[in-house]
Amino acid sequence: MERQFTSVIIPAAGQGRRMNSTINKQYLTLNEKPILAYTLDVFEKCSMINEIVLVINKDEFKICEHQVLKPYHYTKVQLVEGGDTRQQSVYAGLKAVNSKADIVMVHDGARPIIQESVIIKSIYETMEHQATVVGVPAKNTIKVINASGFVEYTPNRDYLIEIQTPQTFEHQLLRRAHENAIEEGVEGTDDAFLVERLRCPVKIVIGQYTNIKITTPEDLIIAESIIKRYEKKR
Ligand code: CTP
Ligand code: MG
Repeated sequence: MERQFTSVIIPAAGQGRRMNSTINKQYLTLNEKPILAYTLDVFEKCSMINEIVLVINKDEFKICEHQVLKPYHYTKVQLVEGGDTRQQSVYAGLKAVNSKADIVMVHDGARPIIQESVIIKSIYETMEHQATVVGVPAKNTIKVINASGFVEYTPNRDYLIEIQTPQTFEHQLLRRAHENAIEEGVEGTDDAFLVERLRCPVKIVIGQYTNIKITTPEDLIIAESIIKRYEKKR
């Protein structure tokens, strides 16, 4: 297959409110290394990734430089200032993506335990299907409720997937999806939703349960122990 120029946008410009920490969660450490450095390392080392567009808060350029970029030496990273919502941050990143990119991947800065094999699988699947999202089969029963807190119905678990990142798209498709959402004032919680609105099929890539998003304090304990286990195995 022809070599594709692939860019990854890493939104890391949130506030981390649910973490209840004084610093943005991406700069908290797991076994003494910042969360964001784990995330960047995987994409920096992956030979199929050509550029990394890292989206950060305006007032966090210094902390990012001192705690992540300088100590860990990245060659593919360029910095962009984020927006008020995740969607705005991704769009800010998208505007900075190299115009020759064929494929653009979006991956949360707060998901440090992403495996290179999942990134590679996502790129290959996107060459074939134009839009892919990583997810894992739901382990729990999920119920749809109404506004009064009563169960409306119980969807069949065989068809429920918990969605993670990376989410990967043909470059121009992702651009169209974001621009269309802006025009119509739509705000989604993930990028695939914007592509789904264009009635474009989105293929699931089965990933790993360990690819958690660091969201609340207990996630730090879980992530540290997963990382320690992975390091022992190597
Ligand atoms: N993000 C971003 N810009 C925003 C909001 C979120 O770049 N305006 C990023 C976060 O930094 C994170 C990813 O999107 O890496 C997923 O978002 P989430 O886990 O919700 O992070 P926060 O919004 O920072 O956390 P919270 O919702 O608890 O405030
Ligand atoms: Mg958020």
